[in-house]
Amino acid sequence: MGLCASSRNVVDIKKKLPDEEKQLTSQILCDSLSVAVVGIGEPPVENGQEFYQFLFHIHPRLQAHFVGADEFMGQDPKQPTKFAKQGQRLLMAIHTIAAAFDNPEAFHKNVSDLIKRHRDRNVDPFLWREFFGYFVTFLKTKGEMAPIEEAAWLQLGLRFNKVAQATLQTMGMPFEED
Ligand code: HEM
Repeated sequence: MGLCASSRNVVDIKKKLPDEEKQLTSQILCDSLSVAVVGIGEPPVENGQEFYQFLFHIHPRLQAHFVGADEFMGQDPKQPTKFAKQGQRLLMAIHTIAAAFDNPEAFHKNVSDLIKRHRDRNVDPFLWREFFGYFVTFLKTKGEMAPIEEAAWLQLGLRFNKVAQATLQTMGMPFEED
């Protein structure tokens, strides 16, 4: 299982398959991440920082989790700040989860490990349910999203939440019931 590759032919797949046969796949998710690439250049840094500013804007309370978030909100997302690295880590985690979408075991392991690494971060359980909704809204600010892409993210968000809440439960932490 690797990260999303850059060259994908999702457009062809979309053209060839009738609606009812279209599958929600990792490939579709990865394709839609072309507007939120990871890497060391300017666009990746901007993507990560823009997403954190977007998240802190819609959920100002989340700023309290991150040292320096206050100051960061007034900064230009194109310029690297202390959120450049964190932005990349977050995007990288999303790419990895998207790339694992077709492989239930890898998907489960990735998400479960992520939740365990957030053990001491005081994340309200409902945020794991909501997170990919925010992320999709963010992607839509960067370009048009095909309905099949949106459906794939919705499905990923549901699966993500299921694993997240189950992991919280096994850790003996507060979690949301189905
Ligand atoms: C919305 C709820 C979330 C909150 C409040 C939250 C909070 C945090 C905090 C406070 C840190 C430490 C930052 C630092 O060291 O300065 C962190 C690290 C990190 N977060 Fe989150 N997080 C959330 C959701 C997510 C999601 C959904 C992902 C990925 C899909 C993610 C991926 C990461 C990664 C990759 C790191 C770097 C450390 C590691 O790998 O564990 N976070 N998060």
